Amino acid sequence: MTDIKKIISSLIEKEINIDVYDLIKEIDDSSKGDYTFPCFALAKELHKAPNQIADELANSIEDESIEKIESLNGYLNFFINKEYLTKIVFNEYDKKKSNFGKEESNGKTVCIDYSAPNIAKPFHVGHLRSTVIGHALYNIYKYLGWNTIGINHLGDYGTQFGKLIEGYKLWGSEYDLSTDAVDKLVEIYVRINALCSEDESVLERCRNNFKLLEEGDEYCVKLWKEFSDLSLKEFDKIYDLLGVKFDSIKGESFYTDKMPEVIQILEKNNKLIDSEGARVVDLEDQGIKTPCIIVKSDGSSIYATRDLAAILYRARTYDYDKSLYVVAYEQDLSFKQVFATAKYLDLDNKYVNGLEHVSFGMYRLPEGKFSTRKGNFIKLEDILNAAITRAKEIIMEKNPELEDLDEVAKKVGIGAVVFSDLYNSRIKDEVFDMDEMLKFNGETSPYIQYMYVRIRSILRKNNEEVLLNNVKYDKLLEGQAYELVKLIYRFNDVLNDVISKNEPYILSRYLIKLSSTYSEYYNTVKILSDDVDERNSRIYLITIVSDILKTGCNLLGIEMPERM
Ligand code: ARG
Repeated sequence: MTDIKKIISSLIEKEINIDVYDLIKEIDDSSKGDYTFPCFALAKELHKAPNQIADELANSIEDESIEKIESLNGYLNFFINKEYLTKIVFNEYDKKKSNFGKEESNGKTVCIDYSAPNIAKPFHVGHLRSTVIGHALYNIYKYLGWNTIGINHLGDYGTQFGKLIEGYKLWGSEYDLSTDAVDKLVEIYVRINALCSEDESVLERCRNNFKLLEEGDEYCVKLWKEFSDLSLKEFDKIYDLLGVKFDSIKGESFYTDKMPEVIQILEKNNKLIDSEGARVVDLEDQGIKTPCIIVKSDGSSIYATRDLAAILYRARTYDYDKSLYVVAYEQDLSFKQVFATAKYLDLDNKYVNGLEHVSFGMYRLPEGKFSTRKGNFIKLEDILNAAITRAKEIIMEKNPELEDLDEVAKKVGIGAVVFSDLYNSRIKDEVFDMDEMLKFNGETSPYIQYMYVRIRSILRKNNEEVLLNNVKYDKLLEGQAYELVKLIYRFNDVLNDVISKNEPYILSRYLIKLSSTYSEYYNTVKILSDDVDERNSRIYLITIVSDILKTGCNLLGIEMPERM
């Protein structure tokens, strides 16, 4: 699509012969113009006051793309010719239709490590955030032409499995693991932990189980595998509700036989030092005070070492350009250490530079924080189902005759949870508030879905597709029409902004803005006007709006109902 900034910058360059593309900015408040060019940066070079530069440029620039130019306090404000921009946008839509804003393959690869719950432990709200943010990023990178690899790095390794095996030996027969397996495994874990703190010999047996497990003991491995399968089956229920899939599901245990290489490379590079019986990498010279532990004093490996092995594996397997880790900010230090240590793995710079921790804040249920060790937690699946039930009640009240009520309630309920998770900058702590997120009249996904459904109903009433030929551009100067065109024009930029910062909220807020601007438009003009030209032109415009609302929500991981 034609780049308006490019047009403006070449008009300026024709006059002063300086590349100013990056200096041109969009203006939020349309009454002041569409784009602005601050002339301050040129004052030195041109030996003139910014005011004067702006005045002179305003007088000399003229083009069919520009309606008017204003010089104001050293700023040059451009008002784009409305018909000109609308034509550009409509032509692009005519070419791409529901693929509007999509980009061709760019040959680059991004690995996205997200969700990563732990076996035999509940899938908690932190994992929900990771899943939702990672999934949205996955979709958006893909839409922008990246080769995307979604990775679920399951926590299936650790000394707790030694305990779980011991607990299962003692009380396994008391539990029927065919339903709610994770709950029951957690209960066993809580019981064995209590026993361990009373009785040192039990703890010893647990440690031994873990050793046996690592050595491949048949019985221990069989149990561990069963715990793993049962947990995954439960996690899949959540993934199904959210519509999330992965390209690769590999537990931490997958890296067990890949860790010796990490140790060997670090050794060769003289990076491993002994510290109180453990083997660590000192990172002081990279400004990190705590060293990265590679091998613990008891000889066992740790989380970070498996992540280092995973970096080697992902670099070789996927040849990535970027590798993202969508993990809570509690792990900021851990990833700093891992990424710093990765510099000593003899990897090509590209792989080290591509590592990025996409960290996020806490998501608290209003009741407070939840811990798994003490066994008080709320099951995420229950929360998601509660959102669906609540959505169903609300919809039933508003539209008792609706068909497919269950399906719509699922799209609205799940959508609300997903959207509220993606509405603020990742790093902000959030409170999970079901009533807020389900408001039809707020900054919520039900609001966007509702606007979408209303457009769809108008389009059904109109009952025939409008072709670009039927559009009369001079019929699109009323109300918020041009604001809508400008928003549509920005869609691809918004998506690129999302991936440059790995912040899906940029898209969420854009979709709210598009919805509310549409709502204003709808309230000021009659879409199904008796004037055929007016009607066709308006229908064409709102068709694009509905397509973008749908594409945008889908990219965030939200499905759209056709009625609600
Ligand atoms: N399983 C970990 C947790 O629940 C998250 C793993 C994140 N991914 C990674 N490559 N370390 O905290």
